[in-house]
Amino acid sequence: MFDNKIYDILINELKNSYSPYSNFNVAAVLVTKEGDIYTGCNIENASYSATVCAERTAIFKAISEGHNDFKMIAIAGGYKGKIEDECKPCGVCLQVLTEFCDSDFKIYLINGENSYKEYMLKDFLPKPFDLN
Ligand code: THU
Repeated sequence: MFDNKIYDILINELKNSYSPYSNFNVAAVLVTKEGDIYTGCNIENASYSATVCAERTAIFKAISEGHNDFKMIAIAGGYKGKIEDECKPCGVCLQVLTEFCDSDFKIYLINGENSYKEYMLKDFLPKPFDLN
């Protein structure tokens, strides 16, 4: 599932983060069930509220290109791009992921150099909003 290739893409994507307001760089790598890879970074805005998270950048890129079957996402982040601990996905991103991903969808959080922990989407959002 998670491998060195995904780790390297993730670390590289951290450099694309546009985060002049928080100086907190976040990167995400989303992988489809067919193995296609979509990257995302956080993109901040002077209005603050128009900021978009790395995870949603990646998922919106994928959906807009016709992919909606995902197996995993890897996330890394830290102040000025230095990873010191896990960067957990925010509630809005979890709700967006829930829209498209099964409960066995994996979330890999980088917690240091070449170090990560595996989670499931349901670990973070066990009871998501739905219309039923
Ligand atoms: N951020 C993400 O990119 N993903 C998350 O799940 C949480 C927060 C970004 C948004 C903002 O640019 C910065 O982290 C600090 O909140």
